[in-house]
Amino acid sequence: MQAVEKRFSLFNSLAQSVISSHDTNFWLQKINPLWSVNQPLAKIVKKQIVAKDTVSLILECNRHVQRGVAGQHHPVTVEIAGRHYERTYSLMQLDSAHLCLTVKKVEQGLVSSWLVDRANVGDIFRLGQPYGDMQQHIQTPNLLLLAAGSGITPMLSLIESFSQTKQLIKTPVQLMYWVKTHADVAYIDYLKEVAENFPNFGYQIFYTQEQDERLNQSHVEQLARLDETTVYACGPSGFATTAESLFKHAANVQSEAFSLSQFDLDSNETGFINVTLTQSNKTIAIPKGQSILSSLEHQGIKPNHGCRMGICNKCACNKAQGSTKNLLNGSANHEPTQLLKICVNSAQSDLVIDL
Ligand code: FES
Repeated sequence: MQAVEKRFSLFNSLAQSVISSHDTNFWLQKINPLWSVNQPLAKIVKKQIVAKDTVSLILECNRHVQRGVAGQHHPVTVEIAGRHYERTYSLMQLDSAHLCLTVKKVEQGLVSSWLVDRANVGDIFRLGQPYGDMQQHIQTPNLLLLAAGSGITPMLSLIESFSQTKQLIKTPVQLMYWVKTHADVAYIDYLKEVAENFPNFGYQIFYTQEQDERLNQSHVEQLARLDETTVYACGPSGFATTAESLFKHAANVQSEAFSLSQFDLDSNETGFINVTLTQSNKTIAIPKGQSILSSLEHQGIKPNHGCRMGICNKCACNKAQGSTKNLLNGSANHEPTQLLKICVNSAQSDLVIDL
């Protein structure tokens, strides 16, 4: 095996010296689609349904894929009908060669629908560098995980990592998981198994549509030692904001939102705001109260972006003047010369941004 790898890297060096990496990759991938001199690639080796409209894809990775730590997100680039689309997902590390991507189909979600309905064993993705702050460096005796819908995926990754490293023997971890209906619960057998193997791990599932059990003060009161607990929350922005506010007295609370909720986008704000784009020398009217990124895209402008969740920083650009509102937590920003994440901010007054 080592001899094969040595021959392969010798071949890489020789190949790179005479032809471009693009050409080398082209020919290498004729032999094995995962082979590349520089591209981080992953191949679907297994696909299984884990809940309603939700699949898990087991990915075999090549040596260029950079592993994140549990709880982080990866940009995943897929090719659909000849076009490349990048989305951000939390991946679970299974072993040194395999990752698990769990994805739920979202309404009008081109990539999620393709992954759930059309992706097949053998398909190849490109994986970008992992990022995100929700990691397993827990400084407190207890950990509470709050997940709503697809927000379960980074939590599964943390639980699996805690299980593999046996940290669950010493750190009590409680998971509270909100879904709409019983059919939406992902990985229930896995959660049961972890709870059986580790008495320190417990979980509760709440059903928002079937039993109207939403995150509220009673969930805070269940906790004995809030001041010794780290709280991680992941879900739609309304859920993440509620979690931050309810658990503000925890030793540490951190939240991530994976989408802007209807509440955010349907705010009472009406009218249009002028946005001047200095690099492209254009002024465009966009709706007040909507994500600046989405509004620009609706007008045919394609700013650079990644996660669309305010995490990766790829959409950040300089704001020269104007007021904005963060759609995840409602905070207003009136300061000039600020770095602005246009995916999770709306315009409140005429804006000048460096795009
Ligand atoms: S696209 Fe990732 S922070 Fe805006």
